[in-house]
Amino acid sequence: MFFFYAELIHVWLLSLHGWLTVTVKIMSIYLAALVVFSYLAWIKCIYYRHRRTMVKSLKHVLNSSSSRESNGSDFRALIVTAHPDDECMFFAPTIIRLVELNASVHLLCLSKGNYYNQGAQRQQELLNSCATLGIPASSITILDHKKLPDDPKAEWNISVVCSAIVQQIRAHSFNMVLTFDGRGVSGHANHIAIHKAVRHLAASGQVTDDCCFLSLVTVGLLRKYISFLELPISWLLPSCLCCIIGSQGYKQAKAAMLCHRSQLLWFRYLYITFSRYMFVNTFQMIPQGPKNLKIY
Ligand SMILES: *[C@@H]1O[C@H](CO)[C@@H](O)[C@H](O)[C@H]1NC(C)=O
Ligand SMILES: *[C@@H]1O[C@H](CO)[C@@H](O)[C@H](O)[C@H]1NC(C)=O
Ligand SMILES: *[C@@H]1O[C@H](CO)[C@@H](O)[C@H](O)[C@H]1NC(C)=O
Ligand SMILES: *[C@@H]1O[C@H](CO)[C@@H](O)[C@H](O)[C@H]1NC(C)=O
Ligand SMILES: [Zn+2]
Repeated sequence: MFFFYAELIHVWLLSLHGWLTVTVKIMSIYLAALVVFSYLAWIKCIYYRHRRTMVKSLKHVLNSSSSRESNGSDFRALIVTAHPDDECMFFAPTIIRLVELNASVHLLCLSKGNYYNQGAQRQQELLNSCATLGIPASSITILDHKKLPDDPKAEWNISVVCSAIVQQIRAHSFNMVLTFDGRGVSGHANHIAIHKAVRHLAASGQVTDDCCFLSLVTVGLLRKYISFLELPISWLLPSCLCCIIGSQGYKQAKAAMLCHRSQLLWFRYLYITFSRYMFVNTFQMIPQGPKNLKIY
C-alpha cells in the first residue's frame, strides 16, 4: 500500500516537473515578446509625441516668443552640405519634416562632387533627390569653387565657405542654418570644414540676431547602424532639436537616396537599411558670440 502511494507521488512529481518546465519556457517566450512589443510601442509613442511638439521645439530654438498659432511658414531654413548626396544621407528626416510643416527650406551644396569627375551627373542627381525630398530647384544653390574641391584631403578655405554662407543668409534672410558638427557624421574633411566655418560665423556675430546655427549630432558606430531602434536613445539624450520620420517619410528618404545612381554601390543599400540617419536627426545649438561685432 505504502509503495503504491510513493509510486503515485513520484509519477505526479515527474509530471509536475514536466509541466513547470513547459510553463517556464512559454512564460519566457511571452516575456521576450512583451519586451519587444513594449519597445516598439515606445518608439511609436515617441514618434507621435514628436509630431505634436516639433513646432514648439523649433520656436524654442528660434527663441520666438510669438504666441500666435504658427503654421510653419515662419521657419526659413538653410541646409549647408558639402557634396551631392549629403542632403539625403544625413539630413533627410530634417528636410522632410520641415517641408511637411510648410517651412521654406533651401539647400546650399558647396561642391559638385567632382572627385571622380562625375560633377555634371551628380549635380543632376542632386536636383532629382531634392525634388523627391520637397525642395524645388529654385531653392538649391550648388557652388563650384576651385578653392572648395570635393576631396577628403583638401583643406577648404574657411573664409570662402563663410562668405558663401553669409551671402545666402543675407539674400534670403534665413532664421536657421543647419549643418554638420565637428565630427562631420562620416568624418569627411569637407564636412568638418563647413562646421568650422559656421562656428566662426556664429562666434563672430556677423549675421542678424534672429538667425540660429544648428549642428547635426554625430553618433557612434553602434547607434549609427541600428536603424529606427536607436530612436529612444536620441529622444532621451538632450538635444535642442530632434526630427523623426515614420514609414512614409522613410520611403521618401529612400527614394531620394536612389536618385544618386552614380553612388549606388552595394554598401549604399546597407546604409539605406541600417542607418539611423534615415529616420532621425538630432541637433545641438552652435553657441553665438557677441552680436554685430566685426572680427574680420
Ligand atoms: C529670448 O528672448 C527673450 C526676449 O524675447 C530674451 O530676453 C532672452 O534673453 C532670449 N534668450 C536667448 C537665449 O537668446
Ligand atoms: C500661415 O501664416 C501666414 C501668416 O503668418 C498666413 O499668411 C498664411 O495664410 C498661413 N497659411 C495657412 C495655410 O494657414
Ligand atoms: C501646409 O500648407 C498646406 C497648403 O497651404 C496645408 O494644407 C497644410 O495643412 C499645411 N501644413 C501644415 C503642417 O501647416
Ligand atoms: C582664403 O581665401 C582668401 C580669398 O578668397 C584669401 O585671402 C586667404 O588667404 C585664403 N586663406 C587661406 C588659408 O588659403
Ligand atoms: Zn559628404
